[in-house]
Amino acid sequence: MPLKSRITGTGSYVPEKVLDNFDLEKKVDTSDEWIIERTGIRERRIAESAETTSDLSLEASKKALQAAGVKPKEIDLIIVATMTGDMPMPSTASILQRKLGAKNAGAFDLNAACSGFLYGLSVADNFVKAGTFKKILLVGAEVMSKFIDWKDRTTCVLFGDGAGAVVLEATSGKRGILSTHIYSDGNLWDFICLPGGGSEHPPSLKTIKNRMHFVKMKGNETFKVAVRTLEKLVINTLKVNNVKPSELAMLIPHQANLRIISATAKRLKLSMSRVAINLDRYGNTSSASIPIALDEVVRDGRIRNGEYILLEAFGSGLTWASALIKW
Ligand code: UT7
Repeated sequence: MPLKSRITGTGSYVPEKVLDNFDLEKKVDTSDEWIIERTGIRERRIAESAETTSDLSLEASKKALQAAGVKPKEIDLIIVATMTGDMPMPSTASILQRKLGAKNAGAFDLNAACSGFLYGLSVADNFVKAGTFKKILLVGAEVMSKFIDWKDRTTCVLFGDGAGAVVLEATSGKRGILSTHIYSDGNLWDFICLPGGGSEHPPSLKTIKNRMHFVKMKGNETFKVAVRTLEKLVINTLKVNNVKPSELAMLIPHQANLRIISATAKRLKLSMSRVAINLDRYGNTSSASIPIALDEVVRDGRIRNGEYILLEAFGSGLTWASALIKW
């Protein structure tokens, strides 16, 4: 049997501080009713000012390693999918490596925004299949709250902070990651972006004054592309693997908007009881949303060995990605 990668442990962590829709009503011109109706979000978690993306990653990683029964020094590679790292360099993965004491691991960050975890899963899976690494720690982690314009009601109600982690190990059995799929359309880069702080607009008084260090999103335009793209993506991912929608045990979607998730589930004729949802409690945690949701369904015993689970995401880039797993 050819080499495969299998998720042998999951973990997640969200900050303690809760910010609900009623708190937001006091900050911007919005309402609990609007936010729930348009997004499905009721509350989100917010990191403390001293809490960093690597801190959240550390807590999620410790749980994933414990669940897998793997020690930090056994890890060959750490990938952190994030767009809100501790600092531009070194990578958050290198900082996490130090905090974990994973002294034998290579480490790098990967930025594919909200699709980052599934891009990371694709990279990690291919490293394992090629025989390069045997044990990989993959994290999706974001402190979105520090990159959000709290004066912009079109974005500040959407996002939250959190981290999820998985341990991938080489296996030659039938269970594991069956396929991963990654796509991008850079023509639509300005649908979701954070324009300041890079080499195009380095930090300056002007970038600060123009609020360029915050996430900007053309929400409605993004919504339409997301629904269209994800419907095709999930059908194609199943087709490639000769798996029928009726054989799916669980859909684990990126948590941007309940209406997008429902449209995808409808296309698969999947009841919402077989869809993992956490955006009501955590909002859109970008690259962390899928590994947090995965950890929740694993710990709740909602997926069993041998079942098919489908993961999908859509985000800035634009990027989109999917994976089919035989759990
Ligand atoms: O995770 C990465 C990928 N991201 C996504 O997939 C996000 C996709 N987009 C969405 O989820 C939705 O487009 C949003 C939730 C962002 C917005 O929902 P929408 O139904 O597309 O609303 P809209 O942007 O068309 O705005 C409708 C109205 C506007 O007012 P007018 O022009 O009709 O008077 C907005 O100004 O709602 C207004 N509005 C708000 N009202 C109350 C926008 N934000 C708010 C708000 N509270 N927070």
